[in-house]
Amino acid sequence: TRTTVLDRLAAHRLVPVVVIDDAKDADALGAALVGGGLPVAEVTFRTAAAADAIRVLRDRGDVLVGAGTVLTPAQVDAAVDAGADYVVSPGTSRAVIERCAERGVLALPGAVTATEVQAALELGVSTVKFFPAGTSGGAPAIAALAAPFGGVRFVPTGGVGPKNLGDYLGLACVAAVGGSWMVPRDLVRAGDLAGVQQLVADAVALARSLRP
Ligand code: 3PG
Repeated sequence: TRTTVLDRLAAHRLVPVVVIDDAKDADALGAALVGGGLPVAEVTFRTAAAADAIRVLRDRGDVLVGAGTVLTPAQVDAAVDAGADYVVSPGTSRAVIERCAERGVLALPGAVTATEVQAALELGVSTVKFFPAGTSGGAPAIAALAAPFGGVRFVPTGGVGPKNLGDYLGLACVAAVGGSWMVPRDLVRAGDLAGVQQLVADAVALARSLRP
C-alpha cells in the first residue's frame, strides 16, 4: 500500500537517485544497493533505460523501486507497468498525481514553497519531495516551511551529500533524504559496483550515526 511505501522510505531514511544508461547494469546495481544495506532506488526517467531498469530491479524482489523524474501521466503508466512501487516528480502536477491515484501507487511530488505544499495537500499528498533542496534554501527553508504545515513531511533531494546530510536528517519533518551521491552514474556505467556498494554502505553508516 501507499502507507507501507512511505514507512519503508522513512525506515531507510535514504533514497539513492539512480540515473542508469543501460538496463543490463540494473541487476548488479540492485545487488550493490542490497549489499550496502540500502534496498531502495529512485530510477529517473531521464534515460531511455529507466522502465527496463525498474523492471529488472522490481523482479529481484528485494528492492523498493521508485520511478523518478516522472512528468506525465503516460510516464506514470510506463513506470507502474514496469513495476514501480511509487512515483516521484520534480514538481507538483495534478495530472501526474491523479494518474498515480488511479493506478494505486504513492505519488511523491516536488514542492519547495508554501503555495506548492498547499497545492499538494489539496491533491491529497502530505509527503513531498523538497527539490532542488540545496538551491531552495536547504534545511533552514524546510524548517521554516514545516512550521505552518504540521502534518507535512519532506524528502529533501538535490545537492545533498555526506557534508550536509545531517542538516536534513536532524529535522523531525524530514521523512528521508534523496541523492545520487552514493550511486554515481559513471561508476555504474564503468561496472564498478563494488565502488557503488562501498559508497552506499558509507551513506548508511553515516545516516545511522546521525540518528537523533
Ligand atoms: C533528483 O533527480 O532527485 C536529483 O537530480 C538528485 O540530485 P543530486 O544529483 O544533487 O543528488
